[in-house]
Amino acid sequence: MSAKQMKNDVRKKIINGLIDAYWKEIETVQNYIAISNNLDGVDADPIKKALSGDVGEELGHAQQLANRIRVLGGEVPGSFKFKASQKTLQPPKDSTDVVSAIKGVIDAEEDGIAGYNKLIRLCDGVDFATQDLCIALLTDEEDHRREFVGFLKQYKK
Ligand SMILES: [Fe+2]
Ligand SMILES: [Fe+2]
Repeated sequence: MSAKQMKNDVRKKIINGLIDAYWKEIETVQNYIAISNNLDGVDADPIKKALSGDVGEELGHAQQLANRIRVLGGEVPGSFKFKASQKTLQPPKDSTDVVSAIKGVIDAEEDGIAGYNKLIRLCDGVDFATQDLCIALLTDEEDHRREFVGFLKQYKK
């Protein structure tokens, strides 16, 4: 394989990784909207507020990823290509089950963190601008995870 082909191959892998990350952000937006509205009870308020605040941030992530996909020559997919995967982030059946909602959020943030770490490694030495974007998004997801790990500590008492 020539150096040019190899470069093209990595670029395609990066675009696919960005598309995966894009869908995760979109699905997170869907579920954070649902959970932040569906939860009930006196314990639910701080979680509802935190999640509805994060919706805008996750949507911003999706927009930045879409922009980068395009810059690299890829195409941002439409909704027919969407496949849901966030099993543990579905709104809890019991609308007062705040703990399982918190655990679902931690799972989703960890999944995002794993994806961005993978992309950061893939971009190393090849695509510094995408790497930089993924580092910024990783920082945000680690912040979110930290916040919800803190919530879990309190709610499990
Ligand atoms: Fe995000
Ligand atoms: Fe997040």
